[in-house]
Amino acid sequence: MKKILVIGATGQIGSELTMELRDRYGNGNVVAGYIQGAEPKGELKESGPSALADVTDGEGIANVVKEYDIDTIYNLAALLSVVAEGKPRLAWKIGIDGLWNILEVARENHCAVFTPSSIGSFGLTTPHVMTPQDTIQRPSTIYGVTKVTTELLSDYYYLKYGVDTRAVRFPGIISYVTPPGGGTTDYAVDIFYYAVRGEKFICPIKQGTLMDMIYMPDALNAAITLMEADSTKLVHRNAFNLASMSFAPETIYAAIKKRLPDFQMEYQVDPLKQHIAESWPDCMDDSCARQEWGWMPKYDLDAMTDDMLEKLKLKLNR
Ligand code: SER
Repeated sequence: MKKILVIGATGQIGSELTMELRDRYGNGNVVAGYIQGAEPKGELKESGPSALADVTDGEGIANVVKEYDIDTIYNLAALLSVVAEGKPRLAWKIGIDGLWNILEVARENHCAVFTPSSIGSFGLTTPHVMTPQDTIQRPSTIYGVTKVTTELLSDYYYLKYGVDTRAVRFPGIISYVTPPGGGTTDYAVDIFYYAVRGEKFICPIKQGTLMDMIYMPDALNAAITLMEADSTKLVHRNAFNLASMSFAPETIYAAIKKRLPDFQMEYQVDPLKQHIAESWPDCMDDSCARQEWGWMPKYDLDAMTDDMLEKLKLKLNR
């Protein structure tokens, strides 16, 4: 029986992943780990156990792991790319010192660990079209530096200590539940809120800038399927390219406008976001994920757009 700790359970991915894991493994078997000031609320709080689990406090994490007899940790603590550029030391402290704490706890308590990497682990010198699984990773952001280090440190703990580390390189994640905070791909979430509220959207990313994106249900499914996968079939571990859709701003604008003909968008490019976006892949080759553990997304741009608009209209009472 799996006993799971989700670190960052009130964040963008964590809030939905915790509920999905509770559905699959039973409410009592999934602990929502949070930091002070970001306590779980509502259904997340009511539906199962929660515990203070700050990655910068290794002893605290060890206590939670022992108390709940945890065997699997989903470590989602991170600063997104744009925020991290303003606080590089903090990004490292959370992303890498924090990861080290978790890997040590995992080594001592025999836990499997999932720590996501990202399209941000690539840089300008990476081949941008059908970016291979194994390729150049020289990112120019601190977010990317922490993600490459995450991949390497996770591999190191697997090779040296046998800790069962696994990960994916997430594209930009689109969801209607918890908004992302301070990422380069956030525009692809924000655009839906403006569209549903009937407001004009000011796009911070230049026309023609392609990035990989993924709808949250596919992202959750990827993380859980990988952690369930037969270990003997895995050639790679940290971390698998994931792809399901790749688009530029004008393409998602057109997809929304097809459904909401009055929707308007104009461009006001944010130089930092644009610089970061241009350093990331246009589209990744995810054939290793497909071959090694059966990755198969359900949502393309049209299916995601239909679902996002339907769910956001309900959420925003429109
Ligand atoms: N969504 C992240 C960001 O934009 C990338 O993984 O920072």
